[in-house]
Amino acid sequence: MSADEIRLEDLNPEIFIQEQCEAISKEVGDATAVNALSGGVDSSVVTLLAHRALGDRLKTFFIDNGIMRQGEPQRVVSTIRECGAAVQLVDAQDEFFDALKGKNDPEEKRQAITDTFYKSVFSRLVKASGSRHLLQGTIYTDVEETIAGIKRQHNILAQLGIDTAKEYGYKVIEPLVRLRKPAVRAVGKALGLPETIYNRPPFPGPALVARVIGEATRERIALVRQATAIVEQELAGMNAFQCLAILHQDRIPGMRNGKRDYGLQIEVRCWDSKDAVTASPTRLPFEVLEKLAARMTSEVPGVVSVTYNIATKPPSTMEAV
Ligand code: XMP
Repeated sequence: MSADEIRLEDLNPEIFIQEQCEAISKEVGDATAVNALSGGVDSSVVTLLAHRALGDRLKTFFIDNGIMRQGEPQRVVSTIRECGAAVQLVDAQDEFFDALKGKNDPEEKRQAITDTFYKSVFSRLVKASGSRHLLQGTIYTDVEETIAGIKRQHNILAQLGIDTAKEYGYKVIEPLVRLRKPAVRAVGKALGLPETIYNRPPFPGPALVARVIGEATRERIALVRQATAIVEQELAGMNAFQCLAILHQDRIPGMRNGKRDYGLQIEVRCWDSKDAVTASPTRLPFEVLEKLAARMTSEVPGVVSVTYNIATKPPSTMEAV
């Protein structure tokens, strides 16, 4: 492990911000730096930290991959702009959908998203910017999980012995690498991020693709996006850890206008959990489930079946892909 953890109880957010701004300024000097903003807590905190250190010498890109929730790209970009940082919105939807074409396997879908992001879109933006410094929101847990072999986080390069300056011509700066998520949230709050960002519920990197069984086409993502908006609206007051909608692949027999109609199936999941390691389904009132079913079948085109997942994690996972 490169550096020791700064525990939440030992963190003074103001001092941390000051020290990291100084370190970023020293490292970058008079040059420019780039970073990618996703709207998650880590990348939002990095954006504001680096903006404080570098001002308009920081170039921040928000890559619209076409697989986010309703209105999410515009909402994230305008929120961060309101905090003072300049953000460029890059429309890369076609590239992501091209890469996902014909892919049914969960791991292949995840890989297609990672490759399109790093090898195609972001690397092109970094090269075009001429910057030699790249800021990333790697946190302590990412390093731990990579070293333990649990997850191969794409943002861990130095820890894997990869010299980015030598291999790619740029240096990676990771200001949050000594913090875990609660400490990152505290820094985000001190930086003036709105609570909707620093306390944001988890959302997977592969976004809505993690909630489509089978091929994630533009049309099928649009359906799960609509279903997700309904679930998030209806379950907002339930205090759940996370709630989501999944679009299944099977066609389900149903009835429409007095005729047999093979329609779509949406599965709703709503989780109680502390840390996402284990989770159990929230005991939702039946009236809430009925309202979900009524809205899904009337508002999401083609839906004839709505189910609620009652299995725990493990053996289930929280997402479907
Ligand atoms: P699972 O499905 O593994 O999810 O039980 C546990 C938690 O992690 C989130 N999740 C992800 N987060 N990239 C992420 O940043 C991913 O690829 C990813 N997959 C799952 C999930 O939403 C849940 O909170």
